[in-house]
Amino acid sequence: MSKILITSALPYINGVPHLGHMIGCLLPSDVYARYMRMMGNEVLYICGTDEHGTASEVGALKEGLPVDKYCDKYHAIHAQACKDFNLSFDYFGRSSSPQNQEITYHIFEQLDKNGFVTEKTMKQIYSVDDKMFLADRYITGTCPYCGYDKARGDQCENCTKVLEPTDLINPHSTISGSSNLEVRETKHLFLNLPKIEPKLEEWLKTKEAFWPDIAYSIAKKWLKEGLQPRCITRDLKWGFPVNKAGYEDKVFYVWFDAPIGYIGITKQWADEKPDERSWQEWWLNADDVRYVEFMGKDNVPYHSITFPATMLGTGENWTKVDYLKGFSYLTFEGGKFSKSEHRGIFADDAINEFSADYWRYWLMANAPEASDSSFTIENFVNTINKDLNGVLGNFAQRVMKMTASKLGETIPEGGKLEPVDEEMIATIQTRVDNYFRFLNEMEFRKAVAELRAIWVEGNNYITKTEPWTIIKEDQTRAATILRLCLNLVRIYAILSAPLLPNTAQKIMGKFGLGMQDMPTLTNFSVKEQINALPSGHPFVVGEALFERITPERMIELQQKYGGQ
Ligand code: MF3
Ligand code: ZN
Repeated sequence: MSKILITSALPYINGVPHLGHMIGCLLPSDVYARYMRMMGNEVLYICGTDEHGTASEVGALKEGLPVDKYCDKYHAIHAQACKDFNLSFDYFGRSSSPQNQEITYHIFEQLDKNGFVTEKTMKQIYSVDDKMFLADRYITGTCPYCGYDKARGDQCENCTKVLEPTDLINPHSTISGSSNLEVRETKHLFLNLPKIEPKLEEWLKTKEAFWPDIAYSIAKKWLKEGLQPRCITRDLKWGFPVNKAGYEDKVFYVWFDAPIGYIGITKQWADEKPDERSWQEWWLNADDVRYVEFMGKDNVPYHSITFPATMLGTGENWTKVDYLKGFSYLTFEGGKFSKSEHRGIFADDAINEFSADYWRYWLMANAPEASDSSFTIENFVNTINKDLNGVLGNFAQRVMKMTASKLGETIPEGGKLEPVDEEMIATIQTRVDNYFRFLNEMEFRKAVAELRAIWVEGNNYITKTEPWTIIKEDQTRAATILRLCLNLVRIYAILSAPLLPNTAQKIMGKFGLGMQDMPTLTNFSVKEQINALPSGHPFVVGEALFERITPERMIELQQKYGGQ
């Protein structure tokens, strides 16, 4: 048994979660956490909302809410979505929590004390009417290159030229529209990454053999290009006020406190049961902990460079990432998800249409691992009908119905195994070993394909052995086949549990069992498990595991959500 710390990148609080967020790291981290628990490990699985920064201030302004109330509202929406999708976090917390403030302050103090924080005065645009400095992207004006009149201060969306806010013609605040802007001097704090670089490089070297190539090469590329000091403060109201004299009216930059949020959220979790839990046990001098991070690929530089450098600069022994899994993006019918344009399926819509496992299955089977994937309603409907209904659902229903009608609603006795039975057991064992290997390697698409192949083996077996024909002349043999098949159904529940927790529970329920009756997956032997349900053990056929999605329903979904 090992201690495994798992974090999923904290979703930005502004905006309503959609299928892309779900597969972008939340869902894979959940499948991994569930699998690791079933393997008998001690798992701590942490996530929460990333709340600070201009985007929240602007979002709150648009909704006419104070920013803390705005964050309360959206935190609840995110937490609900995670619950609806059955994400098994030990804690879903908040980067704005007092616990995170405390730890952020401590880490900053250590960095400052160790000489890794530097000051610099810079020029920035101040909006007199908004009474705030504006981040580059909150300044809009006309692009001097192409004349596009909605170019942002950091980049023109139309001609893609990278801009400085001072390049814009007729610049104005995106927030209030005011053009009463001034260039003002402002002082900021920087994390001196070049000074931490040697330590970072040394640490990174120890990861080369373990990280996936993409993550390691992104980190190396950053190092090769040379690290720059990184500004860690902002002239904003919403954030943790900087705990340094002369900086009290500034806050820490959202990307400074967000990753520390993993630790702050662990402390939120521990604070609820202080007698039983300790956050340090996972984060400080916790050399027995293996730390796995899930994230979108755009986050890789932050988690392979900036965050570890921050921790190294403290001179304290913080847990740093051992393995880092990045994901590409999900498109919706080839385009972007957009709430305002009513394109895409958002978390709440999704759950109103189908229960979580339908989505979990499609998303994990098509996880954007090596490249982007495209969600299409047609592909979703076909996959659900073919794999969940046609393969898993059909097998379970068929063997249960057949047994119930011919032999009664208990596991039949039958007799000795024949070579064809042994062969099936061996084939499934090989596939189970592959499935676990892919899950260990976090190759999720391959893992799901293997799981599906395990389900298919059941159907192959029953087609080959034809119990419905055999029963006419040899009832004992038919009983043997059905006994094995019913036990396979239970095995399928166990193996599917990390991916399809509700379905697994439903299946176990048909045998009068619960999730607590599942064995651990360590040394999982199909030969052993296929005898787990003894003859005489009752079951109920009950309803089908999945609903078949009709062509009419598909068209309805396409019209509703903007599919073609
Ligand atoms: N909010 C960021 C994003 O969605 C991720 C922050 S991850 C954290 O890209 F670790 F920094 F919190
Ligand atoms: Zn332009």
